[in-house]
Amino acid sequence: MVNIEQIASEALAKIDGADISALEVLRLEYLGKSGVLTQILKSLSQYSTEEKKVFGSMANKAKSDIEKAIENKKENLKKAALDEKMLKEKLDPSPAFYFPFSKGSLHPILQTIDGICCVFKSLGFSVAEGPEIETDWYNFEALNIPKDHPARDAQDTFYLEGMNNLLRTHTSPGQIHVMEKQVPPVKVIVPGRVYRNEASDASHSSTFHQIEGLAVGENITFADLKNVLAQFVHKFFGNDLDIRFRPSYFQFTEPSAEVDIQCFFCKGKGCRVCKNSGWIETLGCGMVHPNVLKAVNYDAEKYSGYAFGIGVERVAMLKYGIDDIRLFYENDLRFLKQF
Ligand code: DAH
Repeated sequence: MVNIEQIASEALAKIDGADISALEVLRLEYLGKSGVLTQILKSLSQYSTEEKKVFGSMANKAKSDIEKAIENKKENLKKAALDEKMLKEKLDPSPAFYFPFSKGSLHPILQTIDGICCVFKSLGFSVAEGPEIETDWYNFEALNIPKDHPARDAQDTFYLEGMNNLLRTHTSPGQIHVMEKQVPPVKVIVPGRVYRNEASDASHSSTFHQIEGLAVGENITFADLKNVLAQFVHKFFGNDLDIRFRPSYFQFTEPSAEVDIQCFFCKGKGCRVCKNSGWIETLGCGMVHPNVLKAVNYDAEKYSGYAFGIGVERVAMLKYGIDDIRLFYENDLRFLKQF
């Protein structure tokens, strides 16, 4: 009997060194119709049953080893050929090759909204949203701004058919929506886009963003408002900045105030940004007017609250030192990529 193991090991060595066409020749030489192993298997009939068992299993093992070795080698040769081809053609199979766009990021206005919301969430506020199309009631009446009141002049907007629907001029109607759905205590912020019928220039835009704040409950005082806004300013702009409250007027708060932050460019010394005053006007606030509480059927004797409104663009411009609001809306990548 021929030495099957030796035949097999010679075959495996030849396969190992073969190229793709030599592989086919080897396959025929060993496994083909008149191949070496086929012949051995055929010749088994002349042996005794015992010998058949031993030689048969050796020959079958050799056959399957050679088959496997040929398949493996074929795969390896194909892969090597592909690698070489890709190298030659400089083909980059990574996803970037098929998707040659750089990664996007959040718009600076959205980043500012996220940053402000994050601070207020840490102070126990939840976040709500309201519709951009409002009725006259939510945008004005319920906020103690009756029809024909001159306060409406400062908030001219875009009206939809019938004059009762309009694009909201501020996020303050968000206060009404929240209070209609919820009994006190309420502690919420409402970020969103707002509109005014206004020509655009370096500091005005007909579309911009605000964040409304509202807290209503028992025994809420102006001291709570001062505390919450001081914490916001210190967490968002920096611990070392002073703030001051200036008396002001809003229809939906009484008393009302505007909050100035010590100018963080000059730390109060006076510079171009703060127009030499040392202070930067940042937001409006006050104690919720009893008429607003009545509009949502809250007991104005039992409950009190504070509200505030932050201009997002204004905050972003201060924080990043931007001097023209229009830059936010032009989609100029040279500007946006800086954030
Ligand atoms: N809604 C005001 C505006 O757009 C901003 C504002 C001021 C909101 C005082 C408030 C507030 O909640 O208390 O001009």
